[in-house]
Amino acid sequence: MSHVQRNVEPMLKVENLHAYYGKSHVLQGVNMEIAPGEVVALLGRNGVGRSTTAKAIMGEVPPKGQILFKGQRISGLPSHRIAHLGLGYVPENRDIFPAMTVRQNLILGIKNMQNTGRWNIEQMLDMFPNLKARADTAAGVLSGGEKQMLTICRTLMGDPDLIIIDEPTEGLAPKIVQQVGDLIATIAKAGVSILLVEQKLSIALRIADKVYVMGHGEIVYEGSPQEFLDRSDIRKEWLEV
Ligand SMILES: Nc1ncnc2c1ncn2[C@@H]1O[C@H](COP(=O)(O)OP(=O)(O)OP(=O)(O)O)[C@@H](O)[C@H]1O
Ligand SMILES: [Mg+2]
Repeated sequence: MSHVQRNVEPMLKVENLHAYYGKSHVLQGVNMEIAPGEVVALLGRNGVGRSTTAKAIMGEVPPKGQILFKGQRISGLPSHRIAHLGLGYVPENRDIFPAMTVRQNLILGIKNMQNTGRWNIEQMLDMFPNLKARADTAAGVLSGGEKQMLTICRTLMGDPDLIIIDEPTEGLAPKIVQQVGDLIATIAKAGVSILLVEQKLSIALRIADKVYVMGHGEIVYEGSPQEFLDRSDIRKEWLEV
């Protein structure tokens, strides 16, 4: 897409990333690059290490190798420092604060009270009538899809330059899948770089500028969505079950 800036320093550069759970060597030399404004889809079968990649970038799993965010080395930094540098993370588990209202959840996402950033709460509520109707209700009563919207919106309130979103559409009804897809497209249009871990090819290919396929803890394919569409061999070997 036209908003991708490839001639400048990458937003994120991951070089030879390894990660372990105990003795289990889960990431075995992951390399990836995300340009400013670029939307990158990370595909792969269950258990290949996609979430671990996200966690290692965010410092939630100890990373070995080099991770540069906006040119700065972040491997080794604690998660909250990484987040404050402008790297937003929406993990798999949709962790909202159930006893707090939708609005309070969104306010908690703001990282710098002096700077209102690209996103504001009223605009977000206007985009999602379901959230707006429940703005002053405890977030615990939201549906799965609404919770997913809320966690993405809360992360946006921190005004990230790159947002990592892990399987946002998993287990959601088709209509909500479409809405989550629209939200991700809106984020991309605002110029935010996105690393999207997604199983649904329709969503990934609709918004991605670049596709990575992961297999056994490393990247086994990289290409544009157009190129990827022609690679039924790759899909067969690494994606279909
Ligand atoms: N906390 C953990 N302790 C030990 N092993 C783990 C832990 N988390 C993940 N694993 C293992 O690491 C491997 C990669 O897990 P990961 O969560 O990265 O997979 P994934 O690609 O995100 O797939 P999915 O989301 O479908 O589970 C899997 O074999 C998984 O069982
Ligand atoms: Mg996962």
